[in-house]
Amino acid sequence: MARIIGGVGTTHVPSIGKAIAERKEKDSYWSPFFDGFHPVHRWIAREKPDIAVVFYNDHGLNFFLDKMPTFAVGAAAEYRNEDEGWGIPVSKSAAGIPELSWHIIETLVEDEFDITTCQDMLVDHAITIPMSLMWPGKGAWPVRIVPITVNTVQHPLPSLSRALKLGRSVGKAIESYKEDLKVVVIGTGGLSHQLDGPRAGFINKEFDQYCMDMLVKNPDDITRHSVPQFIEQAGAQGIEFLNWIAMRGALTGKVSELHRNYHIPISNTAAATMLLDNVPVGGQRSTAPARETVPA
Ligand code: DHB
Ligand code: FE
Repeated sequence: MARIIGGVGTTHVPSIGKAIAERKEKDSYWSPFFDGFHPVHRWIAREKPDIAVVFYNDHGLNFFLDKMPTFAVGAAAEYRNEDEGWGIPVSKSAAGIPELSWHIIETLVEDEFDITTCQDMLVDHAITIPMSLMWPGKGAWPVRIVPITVNTVQHPLPSLSRALKLGRSVGKAIESYKEDLKVVVIGTGGLSHQLDGPRAGFINKEFDQYCMDMLVKNPDDITRHSVPQFIEQAGAQGIEFLNWIAMRGALTGKVSELHRNYHIPISNTAAATMLLDNVPVGGQRSTAPARETVPA
């Protein structure tokens, strides 16, 4: 059976792609952020995930404001990127695993999630940047992906509670998949940021810390915030945290924090990286290392 070995939350700011293209990872502006991925790389080298299930929001590349699904699941064999602006190079494609996608889709529909299914799907920086951060280098990414989009862009947005439940259903689906695969679940975007309007540049460190702490200990506590209340605390685009809470929902075992990095700012965003261990109830611990913290 497939096994969920852990979860990763990460920022997806487009200018990270430009920094990678220009080899700026060690520059003083960028290193506090890129260095935060070293523990993730060591974990990936040790655990060797086969599959990444990625919760993210599309920013107008695949879906535009005229047709915006609340939740959509990719079921393609390949996911291409295209020029989406931001001054970043077009990314390599990601390989898909349609059989697992359809298994997840069937479970979600059984659980009464009315999702959109996409057999053809472009993926934007919210997929390609996290993939490039987690699996750096030139060759093909060594995992196949299932992309799951959550609408964080056009109101009305799903509630935090709904996103958590979506993640729980996806977790159940993965663990009932027949093939012996190691799965990492990823949530991208956030943390606090606002890109436009009178509050452009808004960041809230205290609230980000609360979200990261509760993501591990008690994600249900975060769901007492309505979407407007969350946006007040985290900024208009900080609501991309919906992807993180869906990721957390998919971790069905005993969850503990292996690593976190938090750095203000990258572009307009409070940049965060978290690595969570998921130990199946009554099962074996992964070969996870002791908690490592890279100071902000
Ligand atoms: C920025 C952050 C985002 O989440 C995004 O999708 C685009 C830009 C930024 O901080 O520049
Ligand atoms: Fe974004």
